[in-house]
Amino acid sequence: MKELIINNAEEMMELGKKLAQQVCSGDVLLLDGDLGAGKTTFTKGLALGLGIKRNIKSPTFTLIREYRDGKLPLYHMDMYRLEETGAGDIGLDDYFNGDGVCVIEWSQFIDDELPSQYLIMHILKDENDFDKRYVTLEARGDQYQKIIDNI
Ligand SMILES: Nc1ncnc2c1ncn2[C@@H]1O[C@H](COP(=O)(O)OP(=O)(O)OP(=O)(O)O)[C@@H](O)[C@H]1O
Ligand SMILES: [Mg+2]
Repeated sequence: MKELIINNAEEMMELGKKLAQQVCSGDVLLLDGDLGAGKTTFTKGLALGLGIKRNIKSPTFTLIREYRDGKLPLYHMDMYRLEETGAGDIGLDDYFNGDGVCVIEWSQFIDDELPSQYLIMHILKDENDFDKRYVTLEARGDQYQKIIDNI
């Protein structure tokens, strides 16, 4: 486990860029945090770090957006809309077992479908400072512990 203090949105993007240097194909990152915590902002930084030039848009209504113009494919998922229904049979395993990096916002709504190994990042907003975030990185699986050790 690793705890970090992130002072503004730029630093959150920088953290994403750093993670991008550590991830491999097939890796799964779960982003846990309230509305506006900075999950999509982090993903934008990760995408930049992967060399993705396309603009990252929140996939709230599409559930999954795929970006294939970087050094690894990025599958950006937002499961917010599945709060009531769960994932059912939307074929998430194909993404988890695929050749890209999966980044998942609101993964708690599909927790029955998640792989057993992943890196989870918790983002907590500061009550007083609008731009400050407390980030905790937690590994489920050795390969993810290595990533955390290198951050
Ligand atoms: N330290 C910070 N880290 C990340 N975002 C920050 C920070 N400080 C301010 N912000 C701002 O907070 C907002 C975070 O929005 P973002 O879409 O990334 O959140 P989210 O967690 O993806 O929310 P949602 O659950 O609605 O998808 C952005 O407008 C960003 O500029
Ligand atoms: Mg978002």
